[in-house]
Parts: sequence; C-alpha cells; structure tokens
Amino acid sequence: MQKKWNVIGLIIAAVCTGLFLIQAESIAKQNLVKARVNLGRHLFYDTKLSYNLTKSCVSCHDPSMAFTDGYRTSSGADGYNVKHNAISLLNVKYRTKYTWANPAITSLQMQIQFPFFNEHPTELGWKSQEQIILNRFAADSNYQQLFKLAFPNQKKPFNVSNIQQALIAFEEQLISYNAPYDQYLKGNKQALNVEAIAGMNLFNSEKLGCIKCHSWEKPFEKNESKFSFGIRVPSLRNVMITGPYMHDGSIDNIFAVFRYYENKKSLNLSNTEQQALIAFFNALTDTSYLSKKELLNPFQYQ
Ligand code: HEC
Ligand code: HEC
Repeated sequence: MQKKWNVIGLIIAAVCTGLFLIQAESIAKQNLVKARVNLGRHLFYDTKLSYNLTKSCVSCHDPSMAFTDGYRTSSGADGYNVKHNAISLLNVKYRTKYTWANPAITSLQMQIQFPFFNEHPTELGWKSQEQIILNRFAADSNYQQLFKLAFPNQKKPFNVSNIQQALIAFEEQLISYNAPYDQYLKGNKQALNVEAIAGMNLFNSEKLGCIKCHSWEKPFEKNESKFSFGIRVPSLRNVMITGPYMHDGSIDNIFAVFRYYENKKSLNLSNTEQQALIAFFNALTDTSYLSKKELLNPFQYQ
C-alpha cells in the first residue's frame, strides 16, 4: 500500500514539474517576443537605420497618419523621391501581397529588403554600407542591451537578419480593428450615424459598385489581395488620414478621388452623396493604436 502511494506521489510530482517547465518555457518565449518587438520599435524610430542618419521607417510611415507620410511620393535617404506613395502599415500582418504593384512580394521578410537595399533612389541605403551601420548599433550601450535581450545566446547579434526580424516583430504589432465601422459590424448599431449609414449603402450600391473591389477585410485573418490593372486595391481603413491617394500619390484629396470615379464610371455624385461617403469614410478611422505607448517613438515615450 505504502509503495503504491509513493509511486502515485512520484507521478504527481513529475506531472507538476512538467507543467511548471511548460509554463516557464512559454513565459520565456513571450519574453523573447517582447524583447524583439522592443528592439524593433527602437530601430523603427531611429535614424541610425539609414546610412547617412537621415531616415528611419517612421520617416515614411508616421503613426499620426496611420503609418503613411502625407507626401505624394516619399523621399529616401539621398533626398530623391521613390516611385510610389507610402502605404499604411496597420494590419500588414494580415496581408497576402505587399507593395502597390508587385504581386511577387508575399511576405514581410521579402518586402523589408526593399527599404534596406533599394538604390536609385535609396530608401535607407544599406547597400555597401552594412558594416558601417551595424557597427553603429554594436557601439551603442543601449542597443547592446536591447540586442542581448532580443537575441540571447548569440555572441554576435549585430547582423542584418536580426535587425530585420526585430523590425518585422514590431510591424506585426501594428493592428487596428476598432473603427466605428468595426463596432457597427460587431452589433453596436449606434456606432454609425444616419449619414454614415447612407454613405455605406451608397458605397455598397449597384450604382457605385465600390465594394466590388474594396471589399471589407475580415479582422485578424489573412485576406487575399486583389489587383486591378496591375495595381493592388488599397485598404480604405483610415482613408481620411492617409492622403494623398493612389499608388503614385497623384490625387491630393478625397473630393478629387470622387471626380476620378465620376469620370471613370460616367456618374454624378451629388453634394449630399459626397458628404455621406465622407461620413462613412470617417467611420473607417481608427487611431486607438495611438494610445498604446509601446507602439510609439521610444525616444519620446518610455
Ligand atoms: C523613403 C521612404 C520609406 C522608408 C524609409 C520606408 N518605407 Fe516602407 N514603404 C514606402 C513606400 C513608398 C512603400 C510602397 C512601395 C511600393 O509599393 O513600391 C512602402 C511599403 C512598405 C510596406 C508594404 C505595405 C503593404 O501593405 O504592401 C511595408 C511592410 C513597409 N513599407 C515597411 C517598412 C519598414 C519596416 C521600413 C523600415 C525598415 C520602411 N518601410 C521604410 C516608403 C518607405
Ligand atoms: C475595379 C476596382 C475598383 C472599384 C470598382 C473601385 N476602386 Fe477605388 N481603387 C481601386 C484601385 C486599384 C485603387 C488604387 C488605384 C491607383 O493607385 O492608381 C483605388 C483607390 C481608391 C482610393 C484611394 C485609396 C488610397 O489609399 O490611395 C479611394 C479613396 C477609393 N479607391 C475609393 C473608391 C470608391 C469611393 C469607389 C466607388 C465609387 C471605388 N473606389 C471603386 C480599385 C477600385
């Protein structure tokens, strides 16, 4: 009898230790992700990330404009404009194709090579400057600590791959699914006023047919990207704060976008209809991520 209880006792002890170890491992994993995100956040906002200390990701992806930059086309570290209008980074984690017009780019890992290594024009200008930039981080005591936490067990953590991994871990935190329209879809019918509902119905109507291309993305799920004449159909989330519009930034404001569709589809939008569409677009604005300090500039907000 005694023996039997001893065995049972041992089994219970083993199971408890096992559970404890599993929990400890999962906490260690979470801490590692946090450390990588934190490193990525510092890099994202730090001009040390460009060869001549002029640009970082935030130069073209500013949180106050839903991570776009307000320019028709962004300018890179050399001061020359890049070809396209900067795209919002909110919910990038859930996209299947990246950039405006290159369906071959199917992951953040593939995409991030462009701001790093693009030439003519450059964005960050890493080409042939890698060692100089990496040495900069290696020599900085703050970064020594951040890299050590993010990549423990690595003797030489200062390399391009680690920097990109950390930046991607940070990008994956940029999530925004809390617009009034999201709340409306979740069942809060008060979230949209009468005008915004009229705008939504107009947007979805046969007459305008906007929804045929700009279909609503399902939150927290990968949504297959659509293309029209070689250009990716952009998300209209936060559209009121992401102008200028179109892949080349050629349209300055939302009224000019309406003109564009009126010409294209030979239709006429009355003033009331335009105001309704704008009310609907305003209901697509979600800046709640701005209250999360951990997504903002770490050199300003601890
Ligand atoms: C000089 C301005 C500039 C800098 C610096 C820059 N970007 Fe961009 N970013 C752009 C532009 C412009 C596009 C659209 C490119 C295109 O379609 O050709 C873009 C596109 C992207 C996309 C694709 C989004 C989508 O939905 O397709 C991601 C992701 C991205 N940038 C992340 C970053 C990260 C991370 C950094 C820093 C390492 C960075 N960018 C630095 C201007 C910039
Ligand atoms: C045939 C598919 C299609 C239809 C239908 C369509 N769009 Fe678009 N829309 C696009 C594409 C593609 C772009 C990007 C075009 C470019 O960059 O040149 C775009 C761009 C936009 C933009 C600018 C977004 C940005 O971030 O630059 C707005 C706003 C917009 N559309 C609103 C509408 C409205 C309103 C309707 C209905 C009247 C509509 N769209 C119908 C495909 C479509």
